[in-house]
Amino acid sequence: MTVKKPRYYHNNGFRMPMGFPPEGFTSGITYQAQPSDIFIASYPKCGTTWTQYIVWLIHNNGQPLSPSKTISEVSPHLEEVGKEVITKLPHPRIIKTHLPYHLTPYHPEAKYIYVARNPFDCVVSFYHHTRGFIKHYDFAEGTFDDFFECFIAGEVDFGDYFDNLVPWYHHKDDENVLFLTYEQMKDNPKKEIINIASFLGSKYVKKIQNKQILNQIITQSSFENMSKNQQRWSSKRPENMPQFIRNGKVGDWKTYFSVEQTKRLKDKFKQRTQGTGLKTLWLDL
Ligand code: A3P
Repeated sequence: MTVKKPRYYHNNGFRMPMGFPPEGFTSGITYQAQPSDIFIASYPKCGTTWTQYIVWLIHNNGQPLSPSKTISEVSPHLEEVGKEVITKLPHPRIIKTHLPYHLTPYHPEAKYIYVARNPFDCVVSFYHHTRGFIKHYDFAEGTFDDFFECFIAGEVDFGDYFDNLVPWYHHKDDENVLFLTYEQMKDNPKKEIINIASFLGSKYVKKIQNKQILNQIITQSSFENMSKNQQRWSSKRPENMPQFIRNGKVGDWKTYFSVEQTKRLKDKFKQRTQGTGLKTLWLDL
């Protein structure tokens, strides 16, 4: 079978989307992390934007982001914009990254929120993302089967899913790391919002002790609300492509995967996570 592949360029050993300037990555990894920094780290399509917005809402007492602003203005992507842009942000800086643990700028007092998602729903979401950003990837005609082959080979932007997930998981009990899953957030958003605020510290806990603020954060960060004003999360996508905030479901992968693909990804999951405890995160896979 001939596999259609998305277009990437290579930088620092990674495939990168065409819209990301190479100097953003090179500069981003040399950023000097600050004690007050809050990093939102993830592999692509695992709930990054959702988590960024929750943190931003907690910080801003539940006040929504103005429709004229974008999340990347208030919480930029480190390896896209580079360190100069990040350094100009007010403190605390809320910084998005898809870097693996060993490349993420480190400060012992900075806080790192990592969000993981099961690889099955991740690859489906990544497929729609890749075909929708036509200028970046030139993959509008690509099929799920094409993308699956690239994903399982680790030949997609930001590298292999497991190379990102496993090292971050090893740090899940570090004092300055909060390890979340998309599925936990879906299951009980209120609980995870409280969990995030507690991790960020007493100043943030005080904010959400106000029930009105907590309810605002829950409502504003819901899928229904975030689906409105999509331009706040990403650049415009063609009419015939799914939106960035697309369907927000757990388990939708079952409508995409063949029996053979399911076995191959399950086998890879088993092989790459053996002895790590990661299988306990997604027991029903
Ligand atoms: P789907 O494509 O499965 O719908 P990222 O921000 O890391 O790129 O992740 C994008 C995924 O998170 C998309 O998944 C998107 O719909 C989902 N998402 C974003 N906001 C969400 C929310 N408030 N609730 C549930 N899912 C959300």
